[in-house]
Amino acid sequence: MKVAIDGPAGSGKSTIAHELAKRCGLVLLDTGAMYRSVTLACHERKIDVTDDEAVAKVAQEISISFGTADDGTQTVALDGRDVTAEIRTPAIDADVSAVSAVPAVREAMVAQQRELGNAGDVVAEGRDIGTVVFPDAEVKVFLTANPEARAHRRALQRDIVDPKQEEAILADLKRRDKADSTRDVAPLCAAEDAVHIDSSTMTIEEEVAQISALIDEARAAADAPAEDNAPAVATEASGKPKKAAKSEDKPADPNEKFYEGAVREYGLGSRALLAASIGLCGLLSKTLWHWKFENGRTLWDAEGGQMVIMNHVSMIDPVIIVASDWAHGRRMRVLYKSEFDKYKIVNWFFARIGAIPVKRGTADIKAVRRAQRALQRGEDVLVFPEGTRIYSDDQEVEIHGGFALIAQLAKAPVIPVAIVGARDGAPGGNKPLRPGFIWMRAGDPITFDELGVKGRKKQASAMEKVAMERVYALRDALRKEHPGKM
Ligand code: DC
Repeated sequence: MKVAIDGPAGSGKSTIAHELAKRCGLVLLDTGAMYRSVTLACHERKIDVTDDEAVAKVAQEISISFGTADDGTQTVALDGRDVTAEIRTPAIDADVSAVSAVPAVREAMVAQQRELGNAGDVVAEGRDIGTVVFPDAEVKVFLTANPEARAHRRALQRDIVDPKQEEAILADLKRRDKADSTRDVAPLCAAEDAVHIDSSTMTIEEEVAQISALIDEARAAADAPAEDNAPAVATEASGKPKKAAKSEDKPADPNEKFYEGAVREYGLGSRALLAASIGLCGLLSKTLWHWKFENGRTLWDAEGGQMVIMNHVSMIDPVIIVASDWAHGRRMRVLYKSEFDKYKIVNWFFARIGAIPVKRGTADIKAVRRAQRALQRGEDVLVFPEGTRIYSDDQEVEIHGGFALIAQLAKAPVIPVAIVGARDGAPGGNKPLRPGFIWMRAGDPITFDELGVKGRKKQASAMEKVAMERVYALRDALRKEHPGKM
């Protein structure tokens, strides 16, 4: 995985790249520090920075390496000596553009950068990462900010409070912007496929969150099997079109528009069908089983899309929860196993009521993306992590953790819900429906922040575990209150 962050001086690349490296488990590659180190070496050797040949010779002779300080920040060593502070002075700022414009210097640095980058997962920041160093980077970001905002940041970084000095920084930034973007070799410019982020009015947290979402998306796409790895539709986080569908002659799925679109924007016919089915099923199920949804407000009053997970004991479970969500003005997308689609009528009907098929046993990235976008649009998504109906407590249960990944990508909370009584009401097989009572209870929403773990994978597996434990705790509490009910 390569993440390329380019942008002008002071656009916040270093801070963002450092934070991303920490959160996403990437190695940080600060390429500006390398050009700065060459500049320092030239100063120390009293080399005239306008003498291209002499400067190039220095770049070829020196050795630059990176390390980590006790506080976790990155250190830079020039020929084994720590120069982290020395390379960030006005004297270096003044000459680094000239040094970095020398073609032979760039050649030497780019070769080293590629070597470092190819050794593992990396987030590299600079001016030409997405265009020259790693044109194949999976994530490319071009970070900008207005010059005043950038100068102010740089002043803060260097503990400068004197407005005159800040003005001097601003003048130097503007000069360097011009030099860096008009030079002949590898000028500062955004790669065609880079995502542009203007950080002038964004907080670091917001920027990091936006870029982490891009990284998560790229990782999910890379993890997916090839046949599912070709989403034809633009993604929310990047806002740019991804790869087109792999096979041009493969007929488009006629249900695509239902899977990808917002339920509220379906055609009149489909909306009427949805209203009629939900109305009828809701009413029938209420009459037969007098179901009660305790603490449902947790879901109904929430802002934005919520990932709802639930134990699965009967075919009534989705009916009740979708109906109650709908009755409270919300829309819920149910993820269901694609095996049901072998029945044409089921496939037709499920699409029109907003359900999304999932190919089990694969990382179905299409389904993941559809659900992610639904959540981001403000629709709720219902997943049964047990994957299939659980007819008896002796049945072996394998929890499918996809819900945590979807919630993580969409930055949505997870609401655990338990259902009890539905197994008695609809025992399955050829057994008839039996009137009775059904209870459902929602737990409080669980956010990724409250899990207390860092790192994408660790957070997802923590969510998987914690959320299912809460579902079962709610179920056990309901069973205790209603003895004998399953
Ligand atoms: O990001 P920075 O301010 O530390 O970069 C210092 C200088 O190095 C900057 O003026 C432009 C140059 N540079 C470059 O030309 N290419 C890179 N990939 C990184 C930095």
